[in-house]
Amino acid sequence: MKGKHVLITGHTGFKGSWLIAMLHHNGAKVSGIALDPAPGGIFDKAALHELLANDFRQDIRDLTEFTKAFQKISPDVVIHLAAQPLVLASYEKPKETYETNVMGTLNVLQAVEATSSVEATLIITTDKVYRQDPGADKAFVESDPLGAADPYSTSKAMADLLTQSWIASHPESKIAIARAGNVIGGGDVAENRLIPDLVEAFSTGRTGIVRNPESVRPWQHVLDCLAGYVLLIQALLSGNAKSGAYNFGPAPEFPLQVDEVARIAASVWGESAEWVSEERAQPDESKFLILDSDKSKSVLGWREKLDSTDSIRWSVEWSKRESNGEAARALTLEQLSSFMTR
Ligand SMILES: NC(=O)c1ccc[n+]([C@@H]2O[C@H](COP(=O)([O-])OP(=O)(O)OC[C@H]3O[C@@H](n4cnc5c(N)ncnc54)[C@H](O)[C@@H]3O)[C@@H](O)[C@H]2O)c1
Repeated sequence: MKGKHVLITGHTGFKGSWLIAMLHHNGAKVSGIALDPAPGGIFDKAALHELLANDFRQDIRDLTEFTKAFQKISPDVVIHLAAQPLVLASYEKPKETYETNVMGTLNVLQAVEATSSVEATLIITTDKVYRQDPGADKAFVESDPLGAADPYSTSKAMADLLTQSWIASHPESKIAIARAGNVIGGGDVAENRLIPDLVEAFSTGRTGIVRNPESVRPWQHVLDCLAGYVLLIQALLSGNAKSGAYNFGPAPEFPLQVDEVARIAASVWGESAEWVSEERAQPDESKFLILDSDKSKSVLGWREKLDSTDSIRWSVEWSKRESNGEAARALTLEQLSSFMTR
């Protein structure tokens, strides 16, 4: 990515912030278009705007203004992360969720088409786009049918289908779709996510509440997921990967129960950390999904560097050290450089 100008939509969010750091580390020029960052998130804490060539605050739902900002940047590469990314919020705000996730993605593709500098585009969807048939327990491959239940997952399945149709009607363009599951890492402040909720409770002296303590899943660090995105863009640019969808799932070999995650998080935080389990019915959210990532492994050479336990440790350590007064930028760059040298 050295020398490439990369536009990240959604750069002020959790994944976008870590991606700024990773692309900057790789020698890219990085610009962003997004809304203002969530208070207390990694973007502000690590002053990541300082690493950007352009930091535009623009709603992707407004095609005219969004395209103006996009063309001022004139990027070589586009990574589209901007979204309303939460399942529970999508029940409360379905219109905003569909407008942002579906029409916002269409606006990005239209802006790409209208901007001749763009060489390659990556659209981020999710593992939740796959249709889950009752009783089926297999790992999803990229050619499996899409279809979802809750508004967030449905909006992402729609964005995914829309992108596939765009690829089919623009066979000369380099456009890929990345499907990954939930990721963890330092500086995430999203609501109703286990590690951010626990860290917030620990840092304010409250008892953390752990819902669905017996759910079992593997845990993927944000850097492992983003390293996959970067490999995919590089392979698209060099012609070593074709347009289309790619899975980046966590390694299913090392799943951990949610209460075990809470135990590890509390032990990293130290003696003051307390948590309790709470069993209560949650609104429909797809159960843990397994992705078959063989295509990404064989085409891109992608592999995960951190197992579930290390991913949890790195995430909680970042927050603990930051809350003890260490500089967020230095912590982020330290973890990034340990990751890159693995
Ligand atoms: N974090 C995860 O575990 C996870 C898992 C699967 C997929 N994803 C996908 O990855 C992407 C990034 O997720 P995240 O966790 O960093 O989310 P986040 O909420 O931390 O960040 C979302 C970003 O999108 C921007 N945004 C939202 N609405 C916008 C709008 N209307 N116009 C312009 N910008 C807007 C926000 O300003 C922010 O920069 C999303 O597409 C999400 O669906 C995330």
